[in-house]
Amino acid sequence: MVNASQRLPSNGRLSGKIYRLLTVLVNKSRGETKNRLSCPLIHFENVGLRYGMGPEILRDLTFDIPKKSFQFLTGPSGAGKTSLLRLLFMSLQPTRGLIRMFGRDISEIPRPELPLLRRRVGIVFQDFRLLDHLTTYENVALPLRVRGKEESSYKTDVIELLKWVGLGERINVLPPVLSGGEKQRAAIARALMDRPEVLLADEPTGNVDPPMARRLLNLFLELNRLGTAVVIATHDLALMEQVEARRMILSGGHLDIYD
Ligand SMILES: Nc1ncnc2c1ncn2[C@@H]1O[C@H](COP(=O)(O)OP(=O)(O)OP(=O)(O)O)[C@@H](O)[C@H]1O
Ligand SMILES: [Mg+2]
Repeated sequence: MVNASQRLPSNGRLSGKIYRLLTVLVNKSRGETKNRLSCPLIHFENVGLRYGMGPEILRDLTFDIPKKSFQFLTGPSGAGKTSLLRLLFMSLQPTRGLIRMFGRDISEIPRPELPLLRRRVGIVFQDFRLLDHLTTYENVALPLRVRGKEESSYKTDVIELLKWVGLGERINVLPPVLSGGEKQRAAIARALMDRPEVLLADEPTGNVDPPMARRLLNLFLELNRLGTAVVIATHDLALMEQVEARRMILSGGHLDIYD
């Protein structure tokens, strides 16, 4: 068991190149947001969520995601982990309560501004959401292309990150021919390329073998060590046992936090 602030001594140790890449990604992000970092990253107060006329599936959630924190979000299937991540990603509005993202009450943010705020949050979806008509490389580079970046400024970084997550041979193929674990790793690489201040990952090790899970955990820990807050939703007890980190446990609509 290691502390979340330490690097894991494993065969998934980050290479010098990937370490430099992460440092560059995170430093770029910090530079852009230096003046906005004095407020708490995310704050929930008495938040409730129901879908349509259904029962309230999340009740009275009150918690903070502190800057540079690392936490697992866990709980049985159907407990609401994915729903909570969707609230954190601002793709869902709560039915009651207050959510403050980067110091701003999200109910007061005009809709057209939400995508800008969402860029500060990286997300790895449980179902990956890769675009099937784009290659692995193009999927991972997409957030940067959308921002109008020159390909020459990111091409090497994208290829390096893809090699590190074991997709060096799959750079030019389309997602339909990737395995579940390969898609998952491509989705993680894409979330990292967007230089997030908060990274949300929904079952990021659900489709990979234990050595690859350890390698991905290492990547998340390193990213966190460099200053990105990380929230990992998982059922994977073996994964959680590898790190002494905050645990957020959802059950029966309520959230318990063990620091
Ligand atoms: N779009 C939706 N419309 C209606 N109900 C939904 C919707 N999405 C989720 N739910 C319901 O909300 C509850 C929580 O679902 P959610 O997917 O957040 O759970 P989870 O903890 O992520 O589960 P799992 O571990 O299986 O991924 C479930 O009862 C689910 O059926
Ligand atoms: Mg889920």
